[in-house]
Amino acid sequence: MSVENSGLLLSVVLVLGFATLTVALLTVARLLYKSLIRQQRLDMTGRWLVVTGCDSGIGLGVVTALAACRAKVIACCYTEEGSKKALAAGAAWAPQLDLTHDDAVRNIAQEINSRTEGLLWGVVHAAGTVMPGFVDYQPIHSYRQVMAVNFFAPVLLTQKLLSALRRSKGRVVLVSSVDGIVSLPGNAPYDASKFALEAYADALRVELSFCGVMVSVINPATMRTPMAETFFPAHRATWQAMATDDPAGDWQMLWPESWLDQYVDKNTQQLRSIAEDPAAAVNDIVHAATAVHPKLRYLSGRLAKSLFYALWLMPESWSLRFKRLTVQPKPPRSGS
Ligand SMILES: NC(=O)c1ccc[n+]([C@@H]2O[C@H](COP(=O)([O-])OP(=O)(O)OC[C@H]3O[C@@H](n4cnc5c(N)ncnc54)[C@H](OP(=O)(O)O)[C@@H]3O)[C@@H](O)[C@H]2O)c1
Repeated sequence: MSVENSGLLLSVVLVLGFATLTVALLTVARLLYKSLIRQQRLDMTGRWLVVTGCDSGIGLGVVTALAACRAKVIACCYTEEGSKKALAAGAAWAPQLDLTHDDAVRNIAQEINSRTEGLLWGVVHAAGTVMPGFVDYQPIHSYRQVMAVNFFAPVLLTQKLLSALRRSKGRVVLVSSVDGIVSLPGNAPYDASKFALEAYADALRVELSFCGVMVSVINPATMRTPMAETFFPAHRATWQAMATDDPAGDWQMLWPESWLDQYVDKNTQQLRSIAEDPAAAVNDIVHAATAVHPKLRYLSGRLAKSLFYALWLMPESWSLRFKRLTVQPKPPRSGS
Protein backbone atom coordinates (compact mmCIF):
# COMPACT_ATOMS: atom_id res chain seq x y z
CA MET A 1 0.00 0.00 0.00
CA SER A 2 1.33 3.43 -0.92
CA VAL A 3 1.94 6.13 1.70
CA GLU A 4 -0.98 8.17 0.24
CA ASN A 5 -3.42 5.22 0.49
CA SER A 6 -2.44 4.36 4.04
CA GLY A 7 -2.88 8.02 5.02
CA LEU A 8 -6.40 7.99 3.52
CA LEU A 9 -7.25 4.76 5.32
CA LEU A 10 -6.08 6.22 8.62
CA SER A 11 -8.26 9.33 8.09
CA VAL A 12 -11.33 7.19 7.37
CA VAL A 13 -10.70 5.08 10.48
CA LEU A 14 -10.26 8.23 12.60
CA VAL A 15 -13.46 9.85 11.26
CA LEU A 16 -15.47 6.66 11.79
CA GLY A 17 -14.04 6.19 15.28
CA PHE A 18 -14.84 9.81 16.20
CA ALA A 19 -18.40 9.50 14.82
CA THR A 20 -19.02 6.25 16.75
CA LEU A 21 -17.70 7.78 19.97
CA THR A 22 -19.88 10.88 19.50
CA VAL A 23 -23.01 8.77 18.92
CA ALA A 24 -22.20 6.62 21.96
CA LEU A 25 -21.65 9.67 24.19
CA LEU A 26 -24.84 11.35 22.95
CA THR A 27 -26.82 8.14 23.59
CA VAL A 28 -25.47 7.83 27.14
CA ALA A 29 -26.17 11.54 27.80
CA ARG A 30 -29.74 11.14 26.47
CA LEU A 31 -30.34 8.08 28.65
CA LEU A 32 -28.97 9.88 31.71
CA TYR A 33 -31.08 12.95 30.97
CA LYS A 34 -34.19 10.81 30.48
CA SER A 35 -33.63 8.89 33.71
CA LEU A 36 -33.09 12.17 35.58
CA ILE A 37 -36.21 13.88 34.28
CA ARG A 38 -38.23 10.70 34.86
CA GLN A 39 -37.46 11.02 38.58
CA GLN A 40 -39.18 14.40 38.91
CA ARG A 41 -42.49 14.07 40.76
CA LEU A 42 -45.46 16.36 41.18
CA ASP A 43 -46.74 17.43 44.58
CA MET A 44 -49.85 15.25 44.83
CA THR A 45 -51.28 16.89 47.95
CA GLY A 46 -55.02 17.30 47.56
CA ARG A 47 -55.15 16.10 43.94
CA TRP A 48 -58.18 13.91 43.19
CA LEU A 49 -57.64 10.58 41.44
CA VAL A 50 -60.11 7.83 40.58
CA VAL A 51 -58.87 4.24 40.77
CA THR A 52 -61.00 1.24 39.75
CA GLY A 53 -60.57 -2.37 40.91
CA CYS A 54 -59.58 -1.44 44.47
CA ASP A 55 -61.00 -4.48 46.31
CA SER A 56 -57.70 -6.33 46.02
CA GLY A 57 -54.38 -6.78 44.23
CA ILE A 58 -52.82 -4.02 42.16
CA GLY A 59 -55.71 -1.54 42.52
CA LEU A 60 -55.62 -1.74 46.33
CA GLY A 61 -51.83 -1.32 46.24
CA VAL A 62 -52.25 1.82 44.11
CA VAL A 63 -54.74 3.28 46.62
CA THR A 64 -52.24 2.76 49.47
CA ALA A 65 -49.37 4.31 47.47
CA LEU A 66 -51.35 7.34 46.23
CA ALA A 67 -52.81 8.02 49.66
CA ALA A 68 -49.24 7.98 51.01
CA CYS A 69 -48.49 10.79 48.51
CA ARG A 70 -51.39 12.72 50.11
CA ALA A 71 -53.57 12.45 47.01
CA LYS A 72 -57.35 12.24 47.47
CA VAL A 73 -58.28 8.83 46.13
CA ILE A 74 -61.72 7.78 44.96
CA ALA A 75 -61.42 3.99 45.10
CA CYS A 76 -64.08 2.23 43.02
CA CYS A 77 -64.76 -1.22 44.44
CA TYR A 78 -66.91 -4.18 43.49
CA THR A 79 -67.87 -5.30 46.99
CA GLU A 80 -68.66 -3.79 50.37
CA GLU A 81 -65.73 -5.67 51.88
CA GLY A 82 -63.48 -4.18 49.18
CA SER A 83 -64.71 -0.67 50.03
CA LYS A 84 -63.80 -1.19 53.68
CA LYS A 85 -60.30 -2.32 52.70
CA ALA A 86 -59.85 0.66 50.36
CA LEU A 87 -60.94 3.12 53.07
CA ALA A 88 -58.55 1.46 55.52
CA ALA A 89 -55.80 1.88 52.89
CA GLY A 90 -56.38 5.64 52.87
CA ALA A 91 -59.04 6.25 50.20
CA ALA A 92 -61.07 9.44 50.64
CA TRP A 93 -64.17 7.73 49.29
CA ALA A 94 -64.79 4.13 48.20
CA PRO A 95 -68.00 3.77 46.21
CA GLN A 96 -69.25 0.34 45.27
CA LEU A 97 -70.32 -0.47 41.71
CA ASP A 98 -70.48 -3.16 39.07
CA LEU A 99 -68.50 -1.77 36.14
CA THR A 100 -70.45 -3.91 33.67
CA HIS A 101 -73.54 -1.74 34.26
CA ASP A 102 -73.33 1.32 32.01
CA ASP A 103 -75.80 3.29 34.12
CA ALA A 104 -73.77 2.65 37.26
CA VAL A 105 -70.65 3.91 35.46
CA ARG A 106 -72.46 7.04 34.23
CA ASN A 107 -73.86 7.73 37.72
CA ILE A 108 -70.51 7.31 39.43
CA ALA A 109 -68.86 9.63 36.90
CA GLN A 110 -71.49 12.26 37.62
CA GLU A 111 -70.96 11.91 41.36
CA ILE A 112 -67.18 12.07 40.94
CA ASN A 113 -67.48 15.26 38.88
CA SER A 114 -69.69 16.83 41.52
CA ARG A 115 -67.60 15.72 44.56
CA THR A 116 -64.33 16.87 43.00
CA GLU A 117 -65.95 20.10 41.78
CA GLY A 118 -64.50 19.43 38.34
CA LEU A 119 -60.94 19.25 39.67
CA LEU A 120 -60.01 15.67 38.85
CA TRP A 121 -56.32 15.00 38.24
CA GLY A 122 -56.37 11.42 37.00
CA VAL A 123 -58.06 8.10 36.45
CA VAL A 124 -56.39 4.70 36.86
CA HIS A 125 -58.28 1.81 35.28
CA ALA A 126 -57.07 -1.16 37.32
CA ALA A 127 -60.25 -3.26 37.44
CA GLY A 128 -60.04 -6.40 35.40
CA THR A 129 -61.38 -9.89 35.07
CA VAL A 130 -60.13 -13.07 33.41
CA MET A 131 -62.00 -16.14 32.14
CA PRO A 132 -59.38 -18.58 30.89
CA GLY A 133 -60.05 -21.67 28.77
CA PHE A 134 -59.26 -23.00 25.31
CA VAL A 135 -61.43 -21.72 22.47
CA ASP A 136 -63.12 -25.13 21.97
CA TYR A 137 -64.90 -24.76 25.30
CA GLN A 138 -64.96 -21.00 25.81
CA PRO A 139 -68.61 -19.82 25.96
CA ILE A 140 -69.37 -16.61 24.03
CA HIS A 141 -70.61 -15.17 27.31
CA SER A 142 -67.00 -15.13 28.61
CA TYR A 143 -65.94 -12.83 25.78
CA ARG A 144 -68.83 -10.45 26.54
CA GLN A 145 -68.23 -10.41 30.30
CA VAL A 146 -64.47 -9.87 29.97
CA MET A 147 -64.90 -7.16 27.33
CA ALA A 148 -67.47 -5.43 29.57
CA VAL A 149 -65.08 -5.10 32.52
CA ASN A 150 -61.71 -4.77 30.76
CA PHE A 151 -62.69 -2.66 27.75
CA PHE A 152 -66.17 -1.05 27.74
CA ALA A 153 -66.00 0.14 31.37
CA PRO A 154 -62.71 2.08 30.99
CA VAL A 155 -63.92 3.53 27.68
CA LEU A 156 -67.20 4.82 29.17
CA LEU A 157 -65.71 6.03 32.46
CA THR A 158 -62.88 7.89 30.69
CA GLN A 159 -65.35 9.60 28.36
CA LYS A 160 -67.51 10.81 31.24
CA LEU A 161 -64.47 12.21 33.11
CA LEU A 162 -62.77 13.80 30.10
CA SER A 163 -63.92 17.39 30.62
CA ALA A 164 -62.42 17.43 34.12
CA LEU A 165 -59.22 15.73 32.93
CA ARG A 166 -58.85 18.26 30.10
CA ARG A 167 -59.20 21.13 32.57
CA SER A 168 -56.48 19.72 34.85
CA LYS A 169 -54.24 18.54 31.95
CA GLY A 170 -54.20 15.34 33.97
CA ARG A 171 -53.58 11.62 33.51
CA VAL A 172 -55.29 8.53 32.16
CA VAL A 173 -53.60 5.29 33.21
CA LEU A 174 -54.83 2.10 31.57
CA VAL A 175 -53.78 -1.20 33.11
CA SER A 176 -53.40 -3.58 30.20
CA SER A 177 -51.19 -6.68 30.48
CA VAL A 178 -48.36 -8.44 28.70
CA ASP A 179 -51.33 -10.21 27.09
CA GLY A 180 -52.16 -6.84 25.50
CA ILE A 181 -49.02 -7.04 23.36
CA VAL A 182 -48.54 -10.83 23.11
CA SER A 183 -51.67 -12.99 22.89
CA LEU A 184 -51.36 -16.31 24.68
CA PRO A 185 -53.40 -19.47 24.11
CA GLY A 186 -55.96 -20.50 26.72
CA ASN A 187 -56.93 -16.89 27.43
CA ALA A 188 -58.51 -15.53 24.23
CA PRO A 189 -61.30 -13.37 25.80
CA TYR A 190 -58.84 -11.61 28.12
CA ASP A 191 -56.20 -11.18 25.40
CA ALA A 192 -58.78 -9.75 22.98
CA SER A 193 -59.99 -7.28 25.64
CA LYS A 194 -56.45 -6.09 26.41
CA PHE A 195 -55.56 -5.74 22.70
CA ALA A 196 -58.73 -3.65 22.32
CA LEU A 197 -57.67 -1.52 25.29
CA GLU A 198 -54.25 -0.96 23.68
CA ALA A 199 -55.87 0.23 20.44
CA TYR A 200 -58.15 2.55 22.42
CA ALA A 201 -55.18 3.94 24.36
CA ASP A 202 -53.29 4.72 21.14
CA ALA A 203 -56.25 6.62 19.68
CA LEU A 204 -57.01 8.40 22.97
CA ARG A 205 -53.39 9.48 23.43
CA VAL A 206 -53.27 11.21 20.07
CA GLU A 207 -56.72 12.79 20.43
CA LEU A 208 -55.77 14.24 23.83
CA SER A 209 -52.28 15.30 22.81
CA PHE A 210 -53.41 18.88 22.07
CA CYS A 211 -54.84 19.47 25.54
CA GLY A 212 -51.97 18.18 27.69
CA VAL A 213 -53.64 15.04 29.08
CA MET A 214 -51.08 12.21 29.21
CA VAL A 215 -52.16 8.62 28.55
CA SER A 216 -50.01 5.77 29.88
CA VAL A 217 -50.39 2.03 29.41
CA ILE A 218 -49.15 -0.49 31.97
CA ASN A 219 -48.26 -4.03 30.87
CA PRO A 220 -47.73 -6.19 33.96
CA ALA A 221 -46.40 -9.72 33.67
CA THR A 222 -47.94 -12.34 35.99
CA MET A 223 -48.19 -10.82 39.49
CA ARG A 224 -49.06 -12.46 42.82
CA THR A 225 -52.66 -11.21 43.14
CA PRO A 226 -56.05 -12.96 43.43
CA MET A 227 -56.34 -12.84 39.62
CA ALA A 228 -53.22 -14.96 39.10
CA GLU A 229 -53.96 -17.21 42.08
CA THR A 230 -57.40 -18.13 40.73
CA PHE A 231 -56.33 -18.38 37.07
CA PHE A 232 -56.24 -22.17 36.66
CA PRO A 233 -59.18 -22.88 38.99
CA ALA A 234 -61.06 -20.41 36.73
CA HIS A 235 -59.92 -22.43 33.69
CA ARG A 236 -61.56 -25.47 35.27
CA ALA A 237 -64.74 -23.44 35.88
CA THR A 238 -64.89 -22.50 32.18
CA TRP A 239 -64.55 -26.18 31.19
CA GLN A 240 -67.31 -27.11 33.64
CA ALA A 241 -69.62 -24.33 32.41
CA MET A 242 -69.26 -25.66 28.86
CA ALA A 243 -69.85 -29.23 30.08
CA THR A 244 -73.19 -28.04 31.49
CA ASP A 245 -74.12 -26.02 28.39
CA ASP A 246 -72.97 -28.51 25.78
CA PRO A 247 -72.49 -31.91 27.45
CA ALA A 248 -72.48 -33.88 24.19
CA GLY A 249 -70.22 -31.51 22.26
CA ASP A 250 -67.23 -32.73 20.21
CA TRP A 251 -64.94 -30.57 22.29
CA GLN A 252 -64.95 -33.10 25.15
CA MET A 253 -63.42 -35.66 22.79
CA LEU A 254 -60.41 -33.37 22.42
CA TRP A 255 -60.21 -32.10 25.99
CA PRO A 256 -61.46 -34.83 28.40
CA GLU A 257 -61.96 -34.21 32.11
CA SER A 258 -59.16 -36.65 33.01
CA TRP A 259 -56.71 -34.38 31.16
CA LEU A 260 -58.15 -31.20 32.76
CA ASP A 261 -57.22 -32.17 36.32
CA GLN A 262 -53.60 -32.87 35.42
CA TYR A 263 -53.36 -29.73 33.32
CA VAL A 264 -54.76 -27.49 36.06
CA ASP A 265 -52.58 -28.99 38.83
CA LYS A 266 -49.35 -28.79 36.84
CA ASN A 267 -49.91 -25.25 35.61
CA THR A 268 -51.12 -23.88 38.95
CA GLN A 269 -47.69 -24.75 40.39
CA GLN A 270 -45.89 -23.28 37.40
CA LEU A 271 -47.83 -20.02 37.50
CA ARG A 272 -47.09 -19.65 41.21
CA SER A 273 -43.39 -20.08 40.54
CA ILE A 274 -43.24 -17.28 37.94
CA ALA A 275 -45.65 -14.81 39.61
CA GLU A 276 -43.88 -11.60 40.63
CA ASP A 277 -44.37 -9.04 43.37
CA PRO A 278 -47.27 -6.73 42.32
CA ALA A 279 -45.27 -3.79 43.73
CA ALA A 280 -43.57 -3.58 40.30
CA ALA A 281 -46.90 -2.76 38.62
CA VAL A 282 -48.05 -0.53 41.50
CA ASN A 283 -44.85 1.56 41.31
CA ASP A 284 -45.19 1.98 37.54
CA ILE A 285 -48.85 3.03 37.82
CA VAL A 286 -48.01 5.54 40.54
CA HIS A 287 -45.17 6.88 38.39
CA ALA A 288 -47.55 7.33 35.44
CA ALA A 289 -49.97 9.25 37.67
CA THR A 290 -47.49 11.38 39.61
CA ALA A 291 -44.35 11.95 37.50
CA VAL A 292 -43.76 15.24 35.73
CA HIS A 293 -42.77 13.23 32.63
CA PRO A 294 -44.65 9.90 32.64
CA LYS A 295 -43.82 7.20 30.11
CA LEU A 296 -46.21 6.16 27.36
CA ARG A 297 -45.77 2.49 28.27
CA TYR A 298 -44.50 0.60 31.31
CA LEU A 299 -43.48 -3.05 30.99
CA SER A 300 -43.92 -4.08 34.64
CA GLY A 301 -41.94 -6.97 36.03
CA ARG A 302 -38.91 -8.97 34.91
CA LEU A 303 -40.74 -11.23 32.47
CA ALA A 304 -42.48 -8.26 30.84
CA LYS A 305 -39.15 -6.56 30.16
CA SER A 306 -37.41 -9.70 28.91
CA LEU A 307 -39.42 -12.61 27.51
CA PHE A 308 -42.57 -10.70 26.55
CA TYR A 309 -40.65 -7.79 25.06
CA ALA A 310 -38.73 -10.27 22.90
CA LEU A 311 -41.93 -12.11 21.89
CA TRP A 312 -43.52 -8.78 20.99
CA LEU A 313 -40.67 -7.80 18.68
CA MET A 314 -39.76 -11.14 17.09
CA PRO A 315 -41.23 -12.40 13.79
CA GLU A 316 -44.69 -13.92 14.29
CA SER A 317 -43.57 -17.30 12.99
CA TRP A 318 -40.94 -17.48 15.78
CA SER A 319 -43.36 -16.50 18.52
CA LEU A 320 -45.89 -19.03 17.21
CA ARG A 321 -43.26 -21.76 17.47
CA PHE A 322 -42.27 -20.62 20.95
CA LYS A 323 -45.87 -20.64 22.21
CA ARG A 324 -46.52 -24.10 20.70
CA LEU A 325 -43.44 -25.49 22.41
CA THR A 326 -44.11 -23.93 25.80
CA VAL A 327 -47.64 -22.84 26.75
CA GLN A 328 -49.94 -24.62 24.29
CA PRO A 329 -50.70 -28.27 25.10
CA LYS A 330 -51.47 -30.60 22.22
CA PRO A 331 -55.07 -31.86 22.58
CA PRO A 332 -54.72 -35.18 24.44
CA ARG A 333 -57.07 -36.84 21.95
CA SER A 334 -56.94 -36.07 18.28
CA GLY A 335 -60.07 -34.74 16.58
CA SER A 336 -61.11 -33.97 13.05
N1 LIG B 1 -52.20 -10.24 38.34
C1 LIG B 1 -51.68 -10.38 37.16
O1 LIG B 1 -50.97 -11.36 36.91
C2 LIG B 1 -51.92 -9.36 36.09
C3 LIG B 1 -51.09 -9.38 34.97
C4 LIG B 1 -51.30 -8.46 33.96
C5 LIG B 1 -52.30 -7.53 34.09
N2 LIG B 1 -53.10 -7.52 35.18
C6 LIG B 1 -54.15 -6.51 35.24
O2 LIG B 1 -54.00 -5.75 36.41
C7 LIG B 1 -55.28 -5.25 36.82
C8 LIG B 1 -55.48 -5.56 38.30
O3 LIG B 1 -55.56 -6.96 38.45
P1 LIG B 1 -55.08 -7.71 39.78
O4 LIG B 1 -54.02 -8.62 39.40
O5 LIG B 1 -54.90 -6.74 40.86
O6 LIG B 1 -56.36 -8.64 40.03
P2 LIG B 1 -57.51 -8.58 41.14
O7 LIG B 1 -56.91 -8.57 42.49
O8 LIG B 1 -58.47 -9.65 40.79
O9 LIG B 1 -58.15 -7.12 40.88
C9 LIG B 1 -59.13 -6.90 39.92
C10 LIG B 1 -60.13 -5.96 40.51
O10 LIG B 1 -61.19 -5.69 39.59
C11 LIG B 1 -62.42 -5.82 40.29
N3 LIG B 1 -63.52 -6.17 39.41
C12 LIG B 1 -63.68 -7.29 38.67
N4 LIG B 1 -64.87 -7.26 38.03
C13 LIG B 1 -65.47 -6.10 38.38
C14 LIG B 1 -66.72 -5.49 38.06
N5 LIG B 1 -67.61 -6.09 37.25
N6 LIG B 1 -67.01 -4.28 38.60
C15 LIG B 1 -66.15 -3.67 39.45
N7 LIG B 1 -64.95 -4.19 39.77
C16 LIG B 1 -64.61 -5.39 39.25
C17 LIG B 1 -62.15 -6.93 41.29
O11 LIG B 1 -63.13 -6.95 42.32
P3 LIG B 1 -63.28 -8.33 43.20
O12 LIG B 1 -61.94 -8.57 43.82
O13 LIG B 1 -64.32 -7.99 44.21
O14 LIG B 1 -63.68 -9.37 42.21
C18 LIG B 1 -60.78 -6.53 41.78
O15 LIG B 1 -60.85 -5.50 42.72
C19 LIG B 1 -56.30 -5.90 35.90
O16 LIG B 1 -56.68 -5.01 34.89
C20 LIG B 1 -55.55 -7.07 35.31
O17 LIG B 1 -56.05 -7.43 34.04
C21 LIG B 1 -52.93 -8.41 36.20
